[in-house]
Amino acid sequence: MPCEVAARFLILYGSQRGQAQSIAEEICQQAAEHGFTADINCLSNQHKYNLDSEIRPVVFVISTTGDGDPPDTAQKFVRKIKNKSLPHNHFSHLHYALLALGDTNYANFCNGGKTIDSRLQQLGAKHFYATGHADDGTGLEVVVDPWIEGLWDALKKTFSSMATSDQQDTDLSDCTQDDFHKNASVDLHLLKLSETDSQKGKAITSDSIDVETLSTVLVASLKQSVPLLSESALNVPALPASYLEVRLEQETVPSDKDGYHEVSISKAVQLTQDDAVKTAISLELDISEQNLAYQPGDAFDILCPNRASEVEELLLRLDLQTQKNCAVQVNLLKNSTAKIPLHIPQNGSLQFILTWCLEIRSAPKKAFVRALADFTQNSSEKRRLLELCSKEGSADYNSFVRDANVCLLDLLRAFPSCLPPLSLLFEHLPKLQPRAYSAASSSLQHPGKVHFVFNVVEFPARPEHPARTGLCTGWLADHLNGSKCHLQVHVRPRPSGTFHLPADPSVPVVMVGPGTGVAPFIGFLQQREKEREANQEATFGETWLFFGCRHKDKDFLFREELERFAHNGTLSHLIVCFSRDEPDAAGTVNRPTYVQHNLSLHAKNVASILLKDKGSLYVCGDAKNMAKDVNDTLLEIIGNELQIDKLDAMKTVAGLREEKRYLQDIWS
Ligand code: 2AM
Repeated sequence: MPCEVAARFLILYGSQRGQAQSIAEEICQQAAEHGFTADINCLSNQHKYNLDSEIRPVVFVISTTGDGDPPDTAQKFVRKIKNKSLPHNHFSHLHYALLALGDTNYANFCNGGKTIDSRLQQLGAKHFYATGHADDGTGLEVVVDPWIEGLWDALKKTFSSMATSDQQDTDLSDCTQDDFHKNASVDLHLLKLSETDSQKGKAITSDSIDVETLSTVLVASLKQSVPLLSESALNVPALPASYLEVRLEQETVPSDKDGYHEVSISKAVQLTQDDAVKTAISLELDISEQNLAYQPGDAFDILCPNRASEVEELLLRLDLQTQKNCAVQVNLLKNSTAKIPLHIPQNGSLQFILTWCLEIRSAPKKAFVRALADFTQNSSEKRRLLELCSKEGSADYNSFVRDANVCLLDLLRAFPSCLPPLSLLFEHLPKLQPRAYSAASSSLQHPGKVHFVFNVVEFPARPEHPARTGLCTGWLADHLNGSKCHLQVHVRPRPSGTFHLPADPSVPVVMVGPGTGVAPFIGFLQQREKEREANQEATFGETWLFFGCRHKDKDFLFREELERFAHNGTLSHLIVCFSRDEPDAAGTVNRPTYVQHNLSLHAKNVASILLKDKGSLYVCGDAKNMAKDVNDTLLEIIGNELQIDKLDAMKTVAGLREEKRYLQDIWS
C-alpha cells in the first residue's frame, strides 16, 4: 500500500459557531507536519463522505448547542445514524476518535458529541483514541491542545496496526515529509481598487490607549520570564512577499445574504437610572418592511461590525492602512490541503473583511500565538510568545490571554516587533459571530416591531488592554443618542424550538428571570395580556414571575409594565427581590435577596405547579451562577416535596427537562 494512502484520514466536523470547524481545520493543518494527509468535511456535506464504506480512520470534532443538542449542521447526520433499522454492526469497520466541545455552564455538557459517540459505539464503531471533552467554560484549549497532541501517536498506531492486519509491510517511518501535502496556508493577493480610494483613509481614532505604559509592563514581564526554549527555536523566517494588482470592485456589506435583514432602530430607552452599576437599554427595531415573524421566546441574531477605531489601528499596525480599500483575493498555496475559510469573501475590500467577517476581538488561540512567534523579530518577544503557547506555559496563557480577554490587537501592542502577514490573520481569526438577543415583546402588542433588552457589557482596564465595552452592546449603546437613533442593524430571526408559552393557556407557568433575564417573559406576558383581552371566556393558568435586581429605584426593569400585568391579572404573582437595598424600616431580617430565595419561600406552590398541574418552569439569565443556584433550589424543593433523596430529585428534574417543562434560555 503506498504510504500516502496508508496515512490518510478523514476529519468530520459539526460546528455551530465555527469553533469546532476551526479546531478541525487546525488538526488538518497539523496533520501534514506529522506525516499524515487529512481530508476535511462538514458533517452537513453528506454527499462528500460515506461512512458506510469508510476504511480510513475518522476524527470527529463536534460542538454542542441549545439544550445539549448537536449543532444544526450535524442534525441530518444524527438523524441518519439514529435510524432504528441500522444493524448493530453497521459501523463495525469504522475506527474513529471524537473530540466533543461543550460548556459546563450549561446543562448536558458536550452532549452534541456524546450523542454521536454513543450511537457510533452502539453501531459497532471502535475508538482508536479516547474521546476528549473540552469545556469552553474553563478554556477549550485545556483539553483540545493535549488531545490533538496525543492524536498523532494514536493515528500512527492505528495505521501500523491496519498495515499489519493487511499484511502490508509498509512502515510509516519510511515515509518522508515529501510524501505528504504541506504548507496548508493561505496565500493572499491584494488587488488594489484605486489610488484615490486608498488615500481617503480617515485619521486614526483609536481609543486613548497608553501603548507605552502597556509595552513597559509587558516587556518587564518578558524579562522575568524563564526561558524555556533554545536559541535555535528563535530563527525568524523571511516574511512572505505579497503583490498587488489593480481591479475595480464595489465593496458590499452583508444584508439579505446569509439571511440577515437590514432594519432600523425605531426607539431606544435607557431602563436603568444613571447611578445604577449596569446600564440596561431597551431597543425597538422596525421589522415591518421585512415582514419578520417571531414568537415571544424566540431570539434574533444581531451582526454588528468591529469597531472602526480597532480596524483602523489594526490596519496601521500591520502597515496596510493605505491598502484598506483594496479588494482581497485569497488563494491556497500550491499543494495545500487546507480550505479557504468560507467566511472570507473573494474581492471584499480589506477594510470590509476586517470589519464584517473576522472576530478581531477573539482571544488568539495557542496555534495563532505560535504562528505569530514566527513573525516576531525581537528574540525576547519571540521567546515570550513561544512560552505562552508551550505546554509549560498553559497557566500563563490562561491568565495573560484568555482570562484577560486579550485580543490580537492587544498582543500586537505588547509585542511591537511582531508583524504577521495578512494570510495569518485569515487563517486564525474566527468568523465574526452574530450576538443573539431574546425578543422582549409580542407582535400582538407591538405589530411590526421587536424589542430587545441588554446590559452594556464593560471590560475594565487591565495591564493588557484599556477599558472597553462589549462589541455589540457597546456599539449599540454608542450609537444611541437620546431616544432617536438612525442606526441600521443587521438581524436575522433565530427561532427557539422550545422556549415558548404552552400551547394550552390553562397550563400554569413559573418564570424566573432576574435582571435582563426578564426579557422573554415581557414578551410572554404581552402575549397573554392580548389573548386575555381577546378571549375573556377562556381559562388561563396561573402565571408566576420571580424577578430580581439590585435596587428598587435604580434597576427594576419594566417596573410599570410588570405592575400593570399584576394589576390586570395577566400575572397572578409578581415576586420581586432586591439584592443590594438597605433593609427596610421594619428591619426585616433574612430578607430574600435572590430569586431562588423567593422560590424557596413559595416552594409548595412551585412544586404543585410542576408536579401536580403539569405546569412549566422557565429560567432566563445568567448561566454561571443564577441558573445553577436556581437548579439547586429546584432540586431541594422537589426533594422536600416528594420526600426523596438528591439523586431521585435529579431524576425527576431530568424528567421535567425531557418533557420540555423545565426550559432555560441562559448565557454566560
Ligand atoms: P447582585 O448583583 O447584587 O449579586 C440581576 O443581575 C440580579 O441577579 C442582581 O440582583 C444580582 O445580584 C442577582 N444575582 C447575582 N448572582 C445571583 C445568583 N447566583 N442567583 C440569583 N441571582 C443572582
